[in-house]
Amino acid sequence: MDNLYIPDLATLEQIQEETPSIRTLTLALDRPRTFNCQPGQFIEFTVFGQGEFPVSVAGVSDAQRGRFQVTIQRAGKVTKEVFQLQPGAKLGVRGPFGNGFPLEKMQGQDVWLISGGVGLAALWYLLAQLQEQRGRWGQLKLLYGARSPQDIIYQDALRALGRDQAGPQVLLTVDSAANGWSGRVGFVSQLLPDSGLDPGKSVAVVCGPGPMMKATTAALRKLGLAEERILLSMERRMQCGMGACGHCMVGSKRVCLDGPVFPLAEISNLLEEKF
Ligand SMILES: Cc1cc2nc3c(=O)[nH]c(=O)nc-3n(C[C@H](O)[C@H](O)[C@H](O)COP(=O)(O)OP(=O)(O)OC[C@H]3O[C@@H](n4cnc5c(N)ncnc54)[C@H](O)[C@@H]3O)c2cc1C
Ligand code: FES
Repeated sequence: MDNLYIPDLATLEQIQEETPSIRTLTLALDRPRTFNCQPGQFIEFTVFGQGEFPVSVAGVSDAQRGRFQVTIQRAGKVTKEVFQLQPGAKLGVRGPFGNGFPLEKMQGQDVWLISGGVGLAALWYLLAQLQEQRGRWGQLKLLYGARSPQDIIYQDALRALGRDQAGPQVLLTVDSAANGWSGRVGFVSQLLPDSGLDPGKSVAVVCGPGPMMKATTAALRKLGLAEERILLSMERRMQCGMGACGHCMVGSKRVCLDGPVFPLAEISNLLEEKF
């Protein structure tokens, strides 16, 4: 059995600059193995000589050849090194880890994907899967909030989705806008009251910064959506990424192993700051 603490080598094939502080990397595993990844799972990403951090898998472009995407925001010590990397760089990959989104819970339901900032990356592969299996769900909506128009990631893909009659309805908003932005201004949670969500047949999937998740869950509760129908993709500081070290515990839950996806009903009472 492979030692799960030893990263597989991967090559950085492509870089897409999303914003000045966020880039999407396409990686290919050097020793090809099928990259079995469920939407919502994450990898541990090593920049050799610097360290390791967890990052959501944002897309899988070729599972058989182990080729996939991650979208990384510059946050601190290790993620800042990602912005020095050039195509051809060698990196380390452990995983995928975590539970992923329960697609069976979404069967036949309207699915609202609600994200803020780089949190959209954690929902991006899910959105691709939902679209691929379009007949299994009811309405699909993507609600996305960024700080400013310049901070919106996946801009070309979002524009294409907006034009696609068969695609999800896309609602964008920014916290603040300068001249030239004619779209919505305000927090993503403020889009919910008029979004047409039917609490009897909807599942909401939420990922973003803490305050955004808190405001969004409050707005969803207000609309009458049950806590079992609110799925949160959680972030915590991690080390092993696979349930062994206890670093990522929230109450009795290990975010890396029991999560990172939790129904609000399962986690709301365990959070230090309650949602
Ligand atoms: C399951 C999971 C999925 C993630 N997916 C993504 C993703 O798709 N894209 C992305 O850009 N980031 C993602 N993150 C967050 C990413 O792991 C952190 O930004 C990264 O660990 C920061 O490392 P650093 O050494 O650069 O920062 P540090 O120097 O260690 O810290 C810099 C700042 O970031 C904060 N921070 C550090 N780790 C975390 C964390 N795990 N969660 C929240 N804040 C943190 C610190 O409190 C500090 O304020 C994810 C985290 C988890 C747990
Ligand atoms: S990071 Fe080690 S138990 Fe979760």
